[in-house]
Amino acid sequence: AGPDRPLIGTAAWGQRDLIDYDRKNPTTYQQLIGAQFDSITPENDMKWAEIHPEEGVYDFSGADAVMEFAKRNGQQVRGHTLLWHSQNPAWVTEASATWTCDEARAVLKDHITTVVGRYKNKIYEWDVANEIYQDTWDVGGVRLRTNSNPFLKACADDPEALIGDAFRWAHKADPKARLFLNDYNAEGINEKTDAYYGLAKRLLADGVPLHGFGAQAHLSLQYDYDNGLEANLERFADLGLKVAITEADVRIPEVEGREPTDEEVAEHTNRHVKLLKACLDNEACTSFTVWGFNDAYSWVPQTFAREGWATLMTADGQLKPAFHAMVDTLEDA
Ligand code: G3I
Repeated sequence: AGPDRPLIGTAAWGQRDLIDYDRKNPTTYQQLIGAQFDSITPENDMKWAEIHPEEGVYDFSGADAVMEFAKRNGQQVRGHTLLWHSQNPAWVTEASATWTCDEARAVLKDHITTVVGRYKNKIYEWDVANEIYQDTWDVGGVRLRTNSNPFLKACADDPEALIGDAFRWAHKADPKARLFLNDYNAEGINEKTDAYYGLAKRLLADGVPLHGFGAQAHLSLQYDYDNGLEANLERFADLGLKVAITEADVRIPEVEGREPTDEEVAEHTNRHVKLLKACLDNEACTSFTVWGFNDAYSWVPQTFAREGWATLMTADGQLKPAFHAMVDTLEDA
């Protein structure tokens, strides 16, 4: 692979996987993620509930553990995330019930300035705004999450102004970090990505420091693979943006308590390779991240009943065919 190939990353949870990191005596998992990846995304540690648990109280322990681990292993860090409807602390949920837009803006600005500022020059990309659009089937038409995101809700009269300012505040705090929009069901060309495409154009026209679009790529074998990924990445790249695959995994339905079939394994492999190739084939693609590196730590089974086998390694530590196929793909690139 050439020097310009995208960074290959994984999510890791500092508070769970890395907090006890002893570089002379790493756990097997620490050794693996230290050796196999260029980049780490903190799976939870930089989210509001973890890093800003009480009003005026920041807890950087998990995030710092990620930064320290990455530094020791010569890796870069992808920041995640600053404006999201989920994993907000109770104090935000409570206070937001009576927020004016100005009050919400002040809280968000303080948070972004503090968190992004702390890791200035140490994070190459930030998911500034995560999952800000709702899916069509939730609400009968894609629209901004002005119901569930407390900040967008308080500023529902002009949510795009708040989104633009979130990027401006982040850029001011760390002018070198590339700033991203990021979402799921955002791989192909669909109503949701059309909404992002329109938003990106408006933000750029307003001079907002928006630098990239991230497709999470949480896939399930239950649904067809969306071959529109390449075209979708291309249209964002044509706006002058970078693109990234930020949270790749491929889950198998009804797999709990059994081994996947040969067919399922082949499709799990095939889809990982297709996702990786889509990134490698696009010059604007800066990073390709898998969402965890062992089924035992995957978010999938706790979210989707009986689904799983989503990552590149089995729960008992066997590297899957998808891992080897991706290594081959990278070697051929
Ligand atoms: O809050 C408690 C904490 O106090 C306790 O110490 C800990 C012990 O296990 O549990 C904590 O809550 C967990 C939380 O992560 C940590 O903040 C929840 O049980 C757990 O369900 C939660 O799951 C995370 C999920 O986001 C939450 O929405 C997953 O680990 C994480 O992989 C997942 O990641 C998201 C991306 O950020 C955005 N895209 C979708 C992706 C998958 O849902």
